[in-house]
Amino acid sequence: MLNGLQNKVAIITGAGQGIGAAISRRLAQEGAKVVLVDINADCLKDIAHELDTETLTISADISKKNHVLNMVEQTKNTFGRVDILVNNAGIIRDGFLSRLSEDDWDKVMDVNLKGPFLCCQAVFDTMKAQNSGKIVNIVSRSWLGNIGQANYSASKGGLVSLTRTLALELARFQINVNAVAPGLIETPMTKNMPEEALARLLRMQPTGKMGSVDDIAAAVAFLSSGDGAFINGQILHVDGGKSCGLLSL
Ligand SMILES: NC(=O)c1ccc[n+]([C@@H]2O[C@H](COP(=O)([O-])OP(=O)(O)OC[C@H]3O[C@@H](n4cnc5c(N)ncnc54)[C@H](O)[C@@H]3O)[C@@H](O)[C@H]2O)c1
Repeated sequence: MLNGLQNKVAIITGAGQGIGAAISRRLAQEGAKVVLVDINADCLKDIAHELDTETLTISADISKKNHVLNMVEQTKNTFGRVDILVNNAGIIRDGFLSRLSEDDWDKVMDVNLKGPFLCCQAVFDTMKAQNSGKIVNIVSRSWLGNIGQANYSASKGGLVSLTRTLALELARFQINVNAVAPGLIETPMTKNMPEEALARLLRMQPTGKMGSVDDIAAAVAFLSSGDGAFINGQILHVDGGKSCGLLSL
């Protein structure tokens, strides 16, 4: 068991499937009370039923400020505090530059960058009053650059900068802000990728295989725990080494 997660209140966005569901399970196993948030609320009840902890499920679009404010309000009304925020919800709308529409750009920025900004802002007063808090942003190894993902990579690069800036701004309130950068992980998001694109990504993978959602959940749990207390403003790549450079065999 990790230190200091017992009875902590954790909001996880995009908790309905994939990485967000795994993070919710892991934080629940560590004794946290979990607030499961997703734009697609259908799957949240099933996940909540599995968990052996107090839960709250909220249907919200994190790119909408009124939804986000309501999410924090409901959490405080139910549990009285917010200890952990995991900004996990994210989307892809891939395409080469010439084919990316303005809508593809705006949607990805709204969910992947504006959403986490709104969520961080919404929990800030509560965490400041508590004089403690942990924020973990799920970015992507793609923030370093990835062909066909100009919008996605830029959104995650923006989220890296937001992470580092808020780490500086919020440290004085004992709020840690870190990011986890997953590599290629087996989830519904990657299952929906074109076969050819997935095969290309696997060829570039040092481990030759995808990571699991539990690999990401473990990193998030560590950064959310007391064990990560002096870690602030860091980007933890969980990618089987892919961020270390080009693979030439
Ligand atoms: N799967 C990977 O290989 C991979 C790699 C790097 C980074 N990531 C990042 O990890 C995070 C989770 O990815 P995943 O693969 O589990 O994705 P996923 O598509 O399987 O799940 C994302 C969840 O977010 C929810 N969501 C989407 N838009 C939302 C919104 N506006 N408001 C609230 N919820 C919303 C979806 O309904 C879904 O349940 C994302 O931020 C993604 O960019 C994933």
